[in-house]
Amino acid sequence: MKLTWLGHASVLIEGSVNIIVDPFLEQNPAAAKKVSEIPKVDVVAVTHDHEDHISDAFTLAKRDNAVVVAMHEIAVKAMEEGLSAEGMNIGGSIEVKGAKFTMVLAVHSSYRGHPCGYVITLDGKRIYHAGDTGLTRDMEIIGELYPPDVSFLPIGSRYTMDVVQAAKAVEYTRTKVAVPIHYNTWPPIQADPEEFKRLVGDRARVVILKPGESLEL
Ligand code: NI
Ligand code: MN
Repeated sequence: MKLTWLGHASVLIEGSVNIIVDPFLEQNPAAAKKVSEIPKVDVVAVTHDHEDHISDAFTLAKRDNAVVVAMHEIAVKAMEEGLSAEGMNIGGSIEVKGAKFTMVLAVHSSYRGHPCGYVITLDGKRIYHAGDTGLTRDMEIIGELYPPDVSFLPIGSRYTMDVVQAAKAVEYTRTKVAVPIHYNTWPPIQADPEEFKRLVGDRARVVILKPGESLEL
């Protein structure tokens, strides 16, 4: 399986099916690719409806006839726009095209519905995408029930966890490999991924990617 950080919170998962989480490419100054450069996706998962997470989601879903996985209220909006969508809510799990999506809590805001994160199980591996969130003890639930092989965690502060909180999130979720995201897209969310790595220490492997770089799992 290949996991690519496309910049900001956009993650492409290429396995037996292709999944993109929070595509934000066309308007993202740090994006590695434009929408036209993204391979065909089967599922588009959205953590919440802030522009830096949802902006290219419906475009991609329409292009590829992909299924939108989202919080109920966002899924309803997708269906109103003629897209195929699977709505859910925090605590729920669904299977879409052979991938399992468990929706988990994110402590954040949104226009429509509640923000969330996902634990995605694909080809026997578990991937946690935290969405935008502050640190919460509820992350221990992920560690107890669904310890991730790889976690994508925001470290940029201001709107999400900073490096200190994200390092604690690695501990709570019992993550094996942590990839920092949602930083250095713009000046207000500058963060040092090396500092995150130092704070995680030997509790997990931290892989610092540049936008467009991949991790093989
Ligand atoms: Ni947000
Ligand atoms: Mn955001």
